[in-house]
Amino acid sequence: MTSPRTVLIVEDDAVMRTTLAKHLGSSHRVLVGATCSEARALHAENRVDLVILDLHLPDGDGLALVEQFRRDDESEVVVVTAYPKIQSAVRALKAGALDYINKPFDLDEFDLVVQKALEHRRLRDEVVALRRERPSMGGVERILGHAPAIARVRQEIRQVAATPDTTVLVLGESGVGKDLIGEAVHQESARRKGSFVRVNASSIPATMIEAELFGHERGAFTDAKSSRRGLLEIADAGTLFLDEIGDLPLELQPKLLQVLETRRFRRVGGNRELEVNVRFVAATNRDLEGMVREGRFRGDLLYRLNVFPILVPPLRERREDVVFLARHFLDDASRRLGKALKGFSPSALARMDAYKWPGNVRELRNVVERAVILARDEVVNVHDLPAWEQPTSTPTPCPDGCVAFPGDLSALPRLEDVERRYILCVYRQAGNNKTRAAQVLGLSRVTLREKLRQYGIADEGGSNSTT
Ligand SMILES: Nc1ncnc2c1ncn2[C@@H]1O[C@H](COP(=O)(O)OP(=O)(O)O)[C@@H](O)[C@H]1O
Ligand SMILES: [Mg+2]
Repeated sequence: MTSPRTVLIVEDDAVMRTTLAKHLGSSHRVLVGATCSEARALHAENRVDLVILDLHLPDGDGLALVEQFRRDDESEVVVVTAYPKIQSAVRALKAGALDYINKPFDLDEFDLVVQKALEHRRLRDEVVALRRERPSMGGVERILGHAPAIARVRQEIRQVAATPDTTVLVLGESGVGKDLIGEAVHQESARRKGSFVRVNASSIPATMIEAELFGHERGAFTDAKSSRRGLLEIADAGTLFLDEIGDLPLELQPKLLQVLETRRFRRVGGNRELEVNVRFVAATNRDLEGMVREGRFRGDLLYRLNVFPILVPPLRERREDVVFLARHFLDDASRRLGKALKGFSPSALARMDAYKWPGNVRELRNVVERAVILARDEVVNVHDLPAWEQPTSTPTPCPDGCVAFPGDLSALPRLEDVERRYILCVYRQAGNNKTRAAQVLGLSRVTLREKLRQYGIADEGGSNSTT
């Protein structure tokens, strides 16, 4: 954002007005007015970032304008007051002015106030822009999928959202949607007006987690030049999402346990006991029970966290959602990237359907987005997908107990092939005895003979092959 900022100077003293306008004019767009009515007109016609407003104006009290200029956060306002009138400065601040400056002032002082006000404006604009950019946090409706396991997760979120103090533990592999679930618990609950604050125990250096979480008082450690609120305080009235809780250093676990039990804590280096009103949602892809057995996670903390567990199965255990989610991500990516893609080719679908998705939904989303970027036709083809290696280890049999080995769907045998091989196998084991083989296969002798002929299996004549 490099375009010059617009400053409206409202001042009835002509000398002062011109001086200030000239002073700001080199680096800002400056508008000037001498009365309330001029100020109103200029403000209505221009997008003004900052108003420098003298409170004493010929046609009225500038105070009445403050509220109007602040409506919908349209402009920042700094009021200029004659020295003894500190009362009106206070009233102006109450009406929404950001700052005030007393007459007489020198230009350095004036510069400082203007700079500060414009920086404040810039930050406000940035926040608004970031909020708009960030996909708005949603409730359960953002958790897509038809698999019964996911429907159950949505149901559990709604249930636990209704009790706003219950601690939730979200368990599942990386990329299954644990963050999404944490946000949904917050959004579906009465705490949605409070903040949703995320702490990731694995991305903050262990030595800093404590201060991040609990805040610190001035002088608590060498760098602590001032006191600071921790994330717990920031999450007050809202939800604290403890991501990767399995990575929380052992020595900090008792402190967290204490907050979970009492909702009370002290800042680092502080004596005051502070109270918070937060819901804790913890998430991990680790086996916490195993960690407890190995002494790497405290059992009492797990017990406190595990009040309402939500288990999210990996994507490969809800295969029916692979194609569904892939289509959703394809539509989403094509819209964002301005591509008119219709869908996937059958072989691309088969390929995705057969893949194991170790990175779960996150990997699926990335693969689809990449494919949308690469796609040259109106559908995503196999060659737009990554060249996944075929499993080289011995394939495991189909979990449903059929004779096939799950793998690349397009490489699986046709039913006819399987039938042919199976009939041949049974027929040989029966010593080419058609009566016996037909019994095992559950076919009539006539049908078996017909099939043997059809599949070109030679009638080698067993012990009972006369007919
Ligand atoms: N059921 C789902 N429906 C839609 N998007 C999902 C679903 N599950 C996960 N995602 C998406 O997959 C990505 C990874 O999810 P995330 O919540 O960060 O996973 P985790 O925290 O378990 O690693 C995110 O972009 C998320 O929006
Ligand atoms: Mg996560």
